Amino acid sequence: MKLIGKGNTAEVYDVGEGKILKLFVEGYPKLAVEHEYENAMIMQRFQLPVPVCFEMTEVNNRSGIVYEKVSGCDLYEYMIKRNAGDEGIEIFYNLQNQILNCKCSELMSYKDFIKLMIGDRAPETINKLDKLPDGENVCHGDFHLWNILVDDNGKAKVIDFMNVCRGPRLYDIARTFYLLQGDDSSDEGKSEEEKAIISQRERLLDKYLMLHGVKKEELQSYLEVIDVCHKCEMQ
Ligand SMILES: Nc1ncnc2c1ncn2[C@@H]1O[C@H](COP(=O)(O)OP(=O)(O)O)[C@@H](O)[C@H]1O
Ligand SMILES: [Mg+2]
Repeated sequence: MKLIGKGNTAEVYDVGEGKILKLFVEGYPKLAVEHEYENAMIMQRFQLPVPVCFEMTEVNNRSGIVYEKVSGCDLYEYMIKRNAGDEGIEIFYNLQNQILNCKCSELMSYKDFIKLMIGDRAPETINKLDKLPDGENVCHGDFHLWNILVDDNGKAKVIDFMNVCRGPRLYDIARTFYLLQGDDSSDEGKSEEEKAIISQRERLLDKYLMLHGVKKEELQSYLEVIDVCHKCEMQ
């Protein structure tokens, strides 16, 4: 098996016949893997642009999920290689909008998801969360440029379904906005092409919100909760 990707929770292997295996780290809760699998099946049922999800499996005591392989690169790399910031953000918005247009009562509520992450560490944040709307839209929950793969024919597909949940559009848009804001880490080691995209970040983020028809102020109450949740996730 050839290693082709690595995230925080899993390694991804090419297993041939156009398939990949997302193999979670040892000891990763099986319940969480089942959660991603169920979310992937729901996304597939809505006929969203996602890789086919084949099965759950176990290898050397580690849980995994077999997906269709997307041969290509992630959307960030795509934007850099083609110097296509605007095109990339339009693809990005269209995919997220397609997902957000779906409604599904079966999914876990974003409030329950955030409560699971925060636990009893920030009761004031839970109070704020309780006051936000429930919503019924499908939210990807981790919609960033690296969870979009563009195949060799230029077709973009969304991956990584662990955080998929049900909530208001503004929740998912705020979560994306939060993730794309980035840190002001140094440009060291970055190519000129990458720096060219990074230098447009502010403008592209504005364009992202404009496409969704959302003002930054509308995201504020979500951003406060998301910030606390993200810090808990990282602990
Ligand atoms: N269906 C797929 N086809 C090709 N590569 C994939 C596929 N799914 C995941 N990968 C690669 O593995 C990496 C990690 O997968 P991902 O599901 O995003 O896991 P994590 O939850 O660890 O971020 C991705 O960024 C990508 O490079
Ligand atoms: Mg990922």
